[in-house]
Amino acid sequence: MPESVPLSSPDIAPADIQAVMETLQSPRLSIGPRTEAFEQAVAKIAGRRHGVAVNSGTSGLHLCVRALDLGPGDQVITTPFSFVATTNCLLFENARPVFVDIDPDSYNMDPQAVEEAITDQTKAILPVEVFGNMAHFDRYEALAKKHNLRLLEDCCEALGGRLGDRPAGSFGDCGVFAFYPNKQITTGEGGMVVTDDDKLADLARSMRNQGRDTSAWLSHARLGYNYRMSEISAALGAAQAQRLDEILAKRRNVAGMYRQALGEVAEIHLPPMAQPQQASWFVYVIRLADRYGPGQRDRLMELLRQGGIGCNPYFVPIHLQPYVRQMLGTRAGQFPITERIAERTLALPFFSNMSQEQVSRVKTVLCEAIKKL
Ligand SMILES: Cc1ncc(COP(=O)(O)O)c(C=O)c1O
Repeated sequence: MPESVPLSSPDIAPADIQAVMETLQSPRLSIGPRTEAFEQAVAKIAGRRHGVAVNSGTSGLHLCVRALDLGPGDQVITTPFSFVATTNCLLFENARPVFVDIDPDSYNMDPQAVEEAITDQTKAILPVEVFGNMAHFDRYEALAKKHNLRLLEDCCEALGGRLGDRPAGSFGDCGVFAFYPNKQITTGEGGMVVTDDDKLADLARSMRNQGRDTSAWLSHARLGYNYRMSEISAALGAAQAQRLDEILAKRRNVAGMYRQALGEVAEIHLPPMAQPQQASWFVYVIRLADRYGPGQRDRLMELLRQGGIGCNPYFVPIHLQPYVRQMLGTRAGQFPITERIAERTLALPFFSNMSQEQVSRVKTVLCEAIKKL
């Protein structure tokens, strides 16, 4: 029986383990020197002045929504083709997500559709670098400037990506990274707000720590949360961040192996990376040709799993999630490009230490499975 190939697998080196062990032997396990070091490292990668470490990407997004003062009645233009946290951070504060359809060539929001969706109630744009694709971020920034809107970049999937000479995390008012184990670098669970705005950084720092101000231990200036990152997670993150270039190069190499292996398979589209060398590869998402329906995509996943190949649908559109339908009255047919794509996409195994043999095994099982559709 050939070895199965997992969907993802973190890239943990001996130096990362050493950094965690040393932290466990230190007196500080929360809010200490490792958190600061990790914050500085990520801020530098994003070309920002501040990094504020938190316990998840979702927490980071929530803090940004609060810090940007987005609340009841404020419309925020965002994508239905993302992980639910992109929308949830708005729903937490009763701000209103206004979905626009995506550009089929990047899977990111269509900037034209974004501009057309702007109204008097629009207060912000919340775009996502879907799967690490940097396409259009300069255009969202131009739109935000033109219409005097806030721009919150959900760069949870794009650490280390670039658009020309601009790094992911450098667009708009602030950005948020995430460090779940399938991400480019991981802290187990974790996230980071990045910004150049001193006030926003101070607010995020206070709100992640129960709204404390800096004057005294139990002095709370505002409503806050416990969104702190532990020193143990930060130590892992700081060690991983030192290896980011190496990790991204390995992921680009795996994407190259896939391109080589699957480029000629007529039944699928490869991931739509605008500039593959500048993208930060997060997941490897293929799409079945339009002549296949969603039932066949699901059957394909079943066959892959039976053959020991990890896979998942990526993404189920946010506007079709049951609670979003209920809260916002959204329904099928509203965003036809998103829906057409989401019905046919699936993530294949992808991680930095994936071998040529594993890529070949995925190809063999995938091609056999496609023949059975
Ligand atoms: C686009 C996007 N936004 C937000 C998040 C939320 O991050 P977390 O799972 O760390 O809360 C993720 C993580 O999967 C994501 O991919």
